[in-house]
Amino acid sequence: MKEEKSLLYFVTGNKNKFSEISQIFKNRQIPCKLKQLDLDLIEIQAENLEEIALFKLNSIKKEINESFFVEDAGFFVDDPLNGFPGVYSSYVFKTIGNEGMLSLIKDYETSKAQFRAIIALYYKPLDKILIFQGNVQGKISNKIRGTHGFGFDPIFIPNEIPGKTFSELLIDEKNAISHRGIAIENLIDFLKKIKKSVEKFP
Ligand code: IMP
Repeated sequence: MKEEKSLLYFVTGNKNKFSEISQIFKNRQIPCKLKQLDLDLIEIQAENLEEIALFKLNSIKKEINESFFVEDAGFFVDDPLNGFPGVYSSYVFKTIGNEGMLSLIKDYETSKAQFRAIIALYYKPLDKILIFQGNVQGKISNKIRGTHGFGFDPIFIPNEIPGKTFSELLIDEKNAISHRGIAIENLIDFLKKIKKSVEKFP
């Protein structure tokens, strides 16, 4: 008999994020069926991504009767902007965008930037909240390049693939090294370990 997979909701209105994560679930043997749930999430202004993700998760916990997760990400230009825009990434993207960000950088070669992602999971079988994270280091491109992805992807060059921006990578290539890809792999490891221990001690 075919095993019934349990449901796992990814609560997000961002279809790019959902495509990236569902592609990873498709490529791997995951003991869960992933579904997108587009609920209105309250975005608080806080000093770190973890606080924002946990606030989002707790604000909708009562509404969902299954395991679910939310994700919060940010773009941090460590050199020369001391981590700006960080937790203000969404606002900065909407206001000055990639052109504006490029205008703040003088020396692209020596620039240092990173994306960070935090995933907050509510895992119903254990009635527990767990946090998973991922980050990717790189630098800023001297111009907007590429057609894939979203947000700051066209101006970020990851250290792992120095000739290309995230926007010049295919979804699987970005997922293999990205902040979101790493965070979700950590979540998947957890799901697989839990499944194994349940099989050992049914
Ligand atoms: P959010 O609050 O998690 O939606 O992320 C804040 C902002 O960071 C978004 O509006 C995007 O501009 C940017 N961002 C987050 N993740 C990525 C990514 O994977 N690529 C490019 N930009 C991203």
